[in-house]
Amino acid sequence: MGSVSLKIGDGTARFRRTSICSSAVNLLMLFSVVTTNLFALYAFSSHSQSQSPNSPLLHHSQNISLVSQHLSLILREIDTSQRKLAQMEKQLLGYESIDLSRPNTVPELKLYLQRHQLPLGKDSRTGITEMVSSVGHTCEKSPDLLSQYMSYKVFDKCPDDWSLGQKLVIRGCEPLPRRRCLAKTVAKQDLRPFPESLWKPVGNKSVNWSGLGGCKSFDCLRGKKLGPDCFGCFELGNEKDRFVKIKWKNDFLIDDVLSLGNGKIRIGFDVTGGGSGTFAARMAERNVTVITNTLNNGGPFSEFVAARGVFPLFLSLDHRFPFHDNVFDLVHGSSGLDVDGKVEKMEFLMFDLDRVLKPGGLFWLDNFYCASDLKKKEMTRLIERFGYKKLKWVIGEKADGQVYLSAVLQKPVRV
Ligand SMILES: *[C@@H]1O[C@H](CO)[C@@H](O)[C@H](O)[C@H]1NC(C)=O
Ligand SMILES: *[C@@H]1O[C@H](CO)[C@@H](O)[C@H](O)[C@H]1NC(C)=O
Ligand SMILES: *[C@@H]1O[C@H](CO)[C@@H](O)[C@H](O)[C@H]1NC(C)=O
Ligand SMILES: *[C@@H]1O[C@H](CO)[C@@H](O)[C@H](O)[C@H]1NC(C)=O
Repeated sequence: MGSVSLKIGDGTARFRRTSICSSAVNLLMLFSVVTTNLFALYAFSSHSQSQSPNSPLLHHSQNISLVSQHLSLILREIDTSQRKLAQMEKQLLGYESIDLSRPNTVPELKLYLQRHQLPLGKDSRTGITEMVSSVGHTCEKSPDLLSQYMSYKVFDKCPDDWSLGQKLVIRGCEPLPRRRCLAKTVAKQDLRPFPESLWKPVGNKSVNWSGLGGCKSFDCLRGKKLGPDCFGCFELGNEKDRFVKIKWKNDFLIDDVLSLGNGKIRIGFDVTGGGSGTFAARMAERNVTVITNTLNNGGPFSEFVAARGVFPLFLSLDHRFPFHDNVFDLVHGSSGLDVDGKVEKMEFLMFDLDRVLKPGGLFWLDNFYCASDLKKKEMTRLIERFGYKKLKWVIGEKADGQVYLSAVLQKPVRV
């Protein structure tokens, strides 16, 4: 309860509420201490009155049951007081959804999440009176993992636990809390200058393989299907033809798509969900800067993309994209967009992609897997509802006999 700093502030509403709140906590504490003691006194005195002589055994047992009744009443009272206190502490800390009063909450997490009053009161530019650290509300669902993640020696090296962080992210704990420890370093011995770096293999030693599953080298990942957009994607020999050669009629050439943008494609966002950055590499060769969204599911995707000299964004597809509206000239997405097959989930994602794409920008849906006729119809309908202009639209089968949809769509200017 003593966690609220009362020494600063200029009497803003928030500040006053906080101090009222903390006096309320103190009152509640006092109240619970007094009632607890009163109950105890009552129980004790009724017990000591019980020394009179008539049928002592009967009375004794009655008295005992009475005392135990009183005791359970007291315990219940203590319990409710404690719950009220926890509730008030939660409100004071301002994180309603994360229960910091849980017994195993590590102090470092409380410290990170603590709100701080601005020393000069309300900031006129932003209108805020306090600083708050952001953290995913779903972190609450994994309190043990979160506490484990926030257990480290301050200013020392972090435990070797990046994969614990990813585990939390996948469970919706995104953004993660910040930490005050030094992340593990890995010497990047064989990085090449740009643009040579785009197509040079990355050495085993430039990656720390701990936490990545069984593999300890790129040879081990050879030929593995690591996601909808990564079939042996760390072997750059396999990747060379992508976007520059047509294998199936659903494949579009990168230069054809760029020409649809009339030379106005400069920055793009690739949300294939786990690729080795080949799209960004091909775009980099054309002087287009592309950010590749990827976690490290089953392989060192982020390290690999970065080693190629393009930009990896370590973010799950469930997170709202950390970009302002109307910024990208191009968004490239693939089957990875359809995370769990649920149409509403897909809609939320598509609206966010639409948001970050500028009017007149291109949305390249690349070989989107249609598991069923229904999926194909759903996707078509969804796209049509956005009112994009269909610059390219191809539905076709590949060697696996499955149906894929590819399209290049132009976002309209909405007035
Ligand atoms: C406790 O027991 C005594 C007899 O031992 C009896 O006289 C007294 O009334 C009892 N007290 C209560 C509160 O029941
Ligand atoms: C990576 O490690 C594997 C197995 O440990 C080894 O065969 C391979 O030569 C290494 N590759 C590089 C580029 O160091
Ligand atoms: C990777 O991390 C482990 C565990 O912390 C460590 O023992 C190992 O030396 C690291 N490997 C490299 C190449 O840095
Ligand atoms: C990319 O930019 C460089 C430097 O401005 C230029 O020399 C090169 O021709 C450009 N490449 C393409 C494909 O536009």
